[in-house]
Amino acid sequence: MIEIPELALVALVGVSGSGKSTFARRHFAPSQVLSSDAFRGMVADDENDQSASADAFDALHHVAGIRLRRGLLTVVDATNLQPHARAGLVRVAREHDVLPVAIVLDVPEAVAWERTQGRADRTHGRQVLTRMQRDLRQSYGRLAREGFRKVHVLRGVDEIDAARIRYAK
Ligand code: CTP
Ligand code: MG
Repeated sequence: MIEIPELALVALVGVSGSGKSTFARRHFAPSQVLSSDAFRGMVADDENDQSASADAFDALHHVAGIRLRRGLLTVVDATNLQPHARAGLVRVAREHDVLPVAIVLDVPEAVAWERTQGRADRTHGRQVLTRMQRDLRQSYGRLAREGFRKVHVLRGVDEIDAARIRYAK
């Protein structure tokens, strides 16, 4: 059971193919989920245009801040594997006195790779995935220090599948 505050900024953390978007769809309302893909689409007409990432995250952080100011739980569906990406989220949460929470989805690289190969909307190679896995390993020791007040780790497909979310009062 994952317990999160009723008002929190939830960062999903995981490599491409770990199941973040699937998890977000399953556990949260669409309006609660801000996805980097959707924001790239909004600012660039192309969800895969990596050159639009800076503008996309700028817009995402802005909307997240507005939601938190309005007292609304907000989930960020992005890989969040880089310290600088997470720092932006911690900053927005702090600006609004809201707890930043991380939910890490950790699946074996082979699982993520197999899923990736079956997707039309992803074209990255295996090395890109391997680098993401390395970034994930390095993230573990850092998340708490970066300011995430709760770090929930879901390890493996079964644990991710069985996860339930409960809201703390
Ligand atoms: N998938 C699956 N079984 C799961 C979870 C996901 O078969 N338990 C599939 C999804 O249907 C999708 C792929 O695996 O085709 C990747 O899942 P997704 O949730 O999209 O992964 P993300 O972590 O969101 O990947 P990305 O970072 O690339 O957006
Ligand atoms: Mg996704």
